[in-house]
Amino acid sequence: MEYKIENNLNVQEYNLLRKSVGWDSKDINLVEEAIKSSIIIKKVTINNSTIGMARAIGDGIYYFIVDVVVDPKYQKKGIGKMLIESIVRDVENRTNDGQKCSINLVSMKGKEEFYEKCGFRKISFDYTGYGMIRRIEK
Ligand SMILES: CC(C)(COP(=O)(O)OP(=O)(O)OC[C@H]1O[C@@H](n2cnc3c(N)ncnc32)[C@H](O)[C@@H]1OP(=O)(O)O)[C@@H](O)C(=O)NCCC(=O)NCCS
Repeated sequence: MEYKIENNLNVQEYNLLRKSVGWDSKDINLVEEAIKSSIIIKKVTINNSTIGMARAIGDGIYYFIVDVVVDPKYQKKGIGKMLIESIVRDVENRTNDGQKCSINLVSMKGKEEFYEKCGFRKISFDYTGYGMIRRIEK
């Protein structure tokens, strides 16, 4: 059995993967738009079944990684790392000589080590303050 990485994802796969890790489902129209607007989108399949996803939103200067999920049945097998490394490679390929950009993310509590193993580092509070958020709900 071989893991395959692909640059696409559908709404059903997205919500099923979220459900597999106990996250809420998102409105299907929003998900469809979010997938379309993502600058990089990745999924991992095995025997045509989708077992992991990750995507990046961004504009060439800043990239933001979101929705990193591996089905619990397949965790700790290197699939999460495979997804992140594939996004990083795509960003490197999009970045020309002499250009700079950054890939950012907000780690859930306890997942920092996973991202460190993928080559990310914690942002020190020497320079930045807290990340900030404002939620909109209608
Ligand atoms: C976080 C998550 C994506 C990791 O995926 P995964 O496929 O299990 O991770 P990998 O097997 O690729 O792990 C890569 C490395 O990170 C380590 N690692 C993975 N999860 C870890 C954790 N929670 N704490 C510490 N180390 C972790 C692995 O041991 C592995 O180390 P190694 O390279 O030395 O062997 C997965 O656990 C998940 O989907 N969790 C639920 C959703 C979630 O929290 N997503 C992240 C939101 S920010």
